[in-house]
Amino acid sequence: MAGKRDGWKSRTGFIIAASGSAVGLGNIWKFPYVAGQNGGAAFIIIYLVLIFTVGFSVLLAEQAIGRAAQRSPAAAFRTLKGGLWPVVGYIGVLTAFLILPFYSVVGGWTIAYIWKTIAGASMDGAAFGGFIASGGITIAFHALFMAVTVLTVRGGVQGGIERYCRILMPTLLIILIILVVRAVTLPGAEKGIAFFMTPDFSRITLQSVHAALSQAFFSISVGMGVMITYGSYIGKTEKLPGDAAWIVGIDTGVALLAGLAILPAVFAFGMDPAQGPGLTFVTLPAVFAQMPGGYLFGTMFFVMLSLAALTSAMSLLEVVVAHITDEFDIGRKPTVLTIGGIMFLLGIPAALSFGAWKEVIFFGKTIFDLMDFVATGILLPVGAIGISLFVGWAFWPKAGEELAGEHGAAPVWAPLWRWMCGIVAPLLILWILIGGL
Ligand code: PHE
Repeated sequence: MAGKRDGWKSRTGFIIAASGSAVGLGNIWKFPYVAGQNGGAAFIIIYLVLIFTVGFSVLLAEQAIGRAAQRSPAAAFRTLKGGLWPVVGYIGVLTAFLILPFYSVVGGWTIAYIWKTIAGASMDGAAFGGFIASGGITIAFHALFMAVTVLTVRGGVQGGIERYCRILMPTLLIILIILVVRAVTLPGAEKGIAFFMTPDFSRITLQSVHAALSQAFFSISVGMGVMITYGSYIGKTEKLPGDAAWIVGIDTGVALLAGLAILPAVFAFGMDPAQGPGLTFVTLPAVFAQMPGGYLFGTMFFVMLSLAALTSAMSLLEVVVAHITDEFDIGRKPTVLTIGGIMFLLGIPAALSFGAWKEVIFFGKTIFDLMDFVATGILLPVGAIGISLFVGWAFWPKAGEELAGEHGAAPVWAPLWRWMCGIVAPLLILWILIGGL
């Protein structure tokens, strides 16, 4: 590795980029429909409790590991402790490597939907099914999405990721707020707002708690070294807990706002909020089609969704790129291009899973579902358990001291955090893992 290690320009730069990673398809596409399927407000309350306790703790753990070592995940564990611990880092890199290809396929769909909305194309359930089965077209949009990701990450941490996130994240937020105002002022929106605000605890089952916890981890991008990698670019004097609180806060705020932009509109037009994955690509276009100004709002919605996906994709690519450039003496630019190219190729079978390769089934799953299952259902929880245990045991008490940065003392609540990472989080994540299998 030649020269000085790249780093964030400022604390705000890190918070924006890390929030960019956290805010993604998980917040805007998945959160509203999972909340819709699990009883609305009651689910949201459970989600909030989990994300601000366990989610926050694991996020902070990753930041502490990254900043202490100033290395990409595998090298970070090697620097701080060695032994078998680097395996946790390798698992993280592998997870990112497997998530980005299929994430990019869906990212491609979001770009295609900007175009479809502008063109006034038919976007009902059959049209959506036909589109994702098309193969050639979805692969082309997957290529486009991957190419934009590669171009931004190529510019480096400060000159690429941070620079673009500083523009894209505020844009996303402004669009989101406009959409919320539009949705909640529709006649009939009250039912949707009520669904969102009045908890019905009778609809909460163990399964919904499980769904809330998995959603929380995926949503703040923990468990696979994104926050270790991004944390490795933080300056030595910065205090970490405040940053983590901002990131969790922004991520949760965006998920809630996305719910408020979507559910009231869905109710206002008498549609079903518990639609599942089709909520964004099938129900919403129908909602926009009936809404005054829906053409404009629909276009804005899909632009926002693409931006959210893009800033998350950057972080996934960065994990693998940082790993390669740290471990081997290869420059950033060729690495970004090569890894981006490989991920594009890996995404092709995922894109074809909805059409030509629908019948290609392993362990009862299509290739798309299998990649998702292995990465987010198995590797991500395993990585998250490793990261939490590391901070609670192997890296304690140094982890506590790391929180305050070079010139401070560990916060008084550090022991609480330790038990969160050492015991509570690993057990809860183990439960997600077993439940998912
Ligand atoms: N947090 C992102 C989302 O909500 C997804 C993601 C997961 C990104 C893991 C990076 C790492 O969509």
